[in-house]
Amino acid sequence: DWTPEHFIQSTVERVREQVGTGHAICGLSGGVDSSVAAVLVARAIGDRLTCIFVDNGVLRKDEFQKVQTTMREQLGLNVVAVDSSQRFLEKLAGVTDPEQKRKVIGNEFIAVFDDEAKKIFEAQKDSQPSAAEEIAWLVQGTLYPDVIESSSVHGPSHTIKSHHNVGGLPANMKLKLIEPLRDLFKDEVRRIGRDLGMPDDIIERQPFPGPGLAVRILGEVTAERVAILQEADQIVVDEIKKAGLYRKVWQSFAVLLPVKSVGVMGDQRTYANTCAVRAVESEDGMTADWAPLPYEVLRTISSRIVSEVRGINRVVYDITSKPPGTIEWE
Ligand code: XMP
Repeated sequence: DWTPEHFIQSTVERVREQVGTGHAICGLSGGVDSSVAAVLVARAIGDRLTCIFVDNGVLRKDEFQKVQTTMREQLGLNVVAVDSSQRFLEKLAGVTDPEQKRKVIGNEFIAVFDDEAKKIFEAQKDSQPSAAEEIAWLVQGTLYPDVIESSSVHGPSHTIKSHHNVGGLPANMKLKLIEPLRDLFKDEVRRIGRDLGMPDDIIERQPFPGPGLAVRILGEVTAERVAILQEADQIVVDEIKKAGLYRKVWQSFAVLLPVKSVGVMGDQRTYANTCAVRAVESEDGMTADWAPLPYEVLRTISSRIVSEVRGINRVVYDITSKPPGTIEWE
């Protein structure tokens, strides 16, 4: 019989056995999967797990700080946080093609992750110069749907997931993969997380794509457009939570369109950006229905965005299901 307790117990034992006296690294995204994977592995090997959390410049508002605090203070994880936002935004300059954005972010992520992994393992070698060949472990929060859908259009761009080889490691060091969640669906991962005592704030978090807000800013990604979308996104999430719908919908977010339109504010004519609001219901993200949000919620979201976010003067609601639409716009 599958129960969270059994799963946790057997996974912790297996990981402890596999890793022995070795070390592991884990890329954190702030989401449920990587956090649950990290907490499970930390249960098994404690401080010998180092988590790496990268600011890629396209995280949600205040996410870089918030995630660090939660991971360290509430989950007791050993976290190296790297602010690489500048570097990512420079690489994204001028890029408008969706798959190209994913590639740029994926490659840059690997470069940053490699650098950090190398530093971590070199520091460990200095403090513990032992075996001739050491095995290091890479923890990934791959789920069962990722395993079966890995050949889909987005496959190669689930950056951390295709990141099986960390380059630049010391010559005598091999990296092996630990994927403790690869037989599980999202709802099972959430049950495990709850059983591990993780806060609701993480457990209930809606999925967020690896390439972040970059695939929700149609056209070029600039620091200014990221800032505009972060504000709008925050309002959507806030209002969905206030309405008690955050857990009911699979994802709810804002998309910044490359479309300007005319509006009127006071006695001033405006000419500014359009923002689309997207909310979908889904079991696993593979198919989805647009969510029939109450008009009152839509009204509040719209009026707050237009009055609080500089640079947006029009809000539209996306009523496309998947298929034929995808959940993300890029
Ligand atoms: P789509 O847009 O294909 O999205 O209907 C299905 C689910 O996958 C997420 N998604 C991604 N996650 N890297 C990720 O890690 C990506 O490149 C990516 N693209 C889409 C999306 O948010 C939804 O939950």
